[in-house]
Amino acid sequence: MDKDKTMPLIVIFVCRLMLILSHGLIWLLKMTEIYITYLYHHIRSYWLNIDSKTKACLTRIPVNLAICIGLEDSKQIDMDKIGQLICWCQTLSIQTLTIYHYCDTFPEMMNTIDGIQVQTISLKSSHQSLIESARNICQSSLPITIDRISEHLRHEGKYYRLDDPDLLICFNSDQRTLQAFPLWQIRLTEIFFLTTHRHLNKSQFLYILKRFSRCQQRFGK
Ligand SMILES: *[C@@H]1O[C@H](CO)[C@@H](O)[C@H](O)[C@H]1NC(C)=O
Repeated sequence: MDKDKTMPLIVIFVCRLMLILSHGLIWLLKMTEIYITYLYHHIRSYWLNIDSKTKACLTRIPVNLAICIGLEDSKQIDMDKIGQLICWCQTLSIQTLTIYHYCDTFPEMMNTIDGIQVQTISLKSSHQSLIESARNICQSSLPITIDRISEHLRHEGKYYRLDDPDLLICFNSDQRTLQAFPLWQIRLTEIFFLTTHRHLNKSQFLYILKRFSRCQQRFGK
């Protein structure tokens, strides 16, 4: 190959490599940031002090909690709040927390922080996973069944990887939309709306949990 042809290839290769490295670095920085804010709140013991009256109301605690952010007054994530939320989830023995951000570039990752599984997902988990699942299902000769769709959307993808959330809190400044949160995962989920995650406080959080406790799920019956 002559020099004129190889040069652009080398440039493309180097650019791709830098892109991959920068994605990895962003991923690492985000997770470190979440972990550090969590530690900060852990040390300051930002636990929920739950009085006996509230405790009596909380007969049912969500096992998997999800939050939806990004369509609020500002797109900025308040890491401090996320750290607090992880501490609160630990107080209540909530096992998994899914943080969904309404944008394509939010790094998708999963990590265990002191026993609680934290997963961050973006628009890719809803759009891209639907596209890829549809493509895989169509390319195979097996019949299309609900189980197969479910399997593709739940387990095969590299996107949403935890169990379905029991409770979803959507933070949204004006409209009540689900912000394209992966829909397959929330068919049986209780959904609550609040304006912004930045001002989330313990009383609001406990209020939502109390309402969640009181919900009766009839599963379409
Ligand atoms: C919690 O937030 C709500 C809504 O922003 C507010 O009305 C309430 O006063 C706050 N509670 C505390 C204890 O700060």
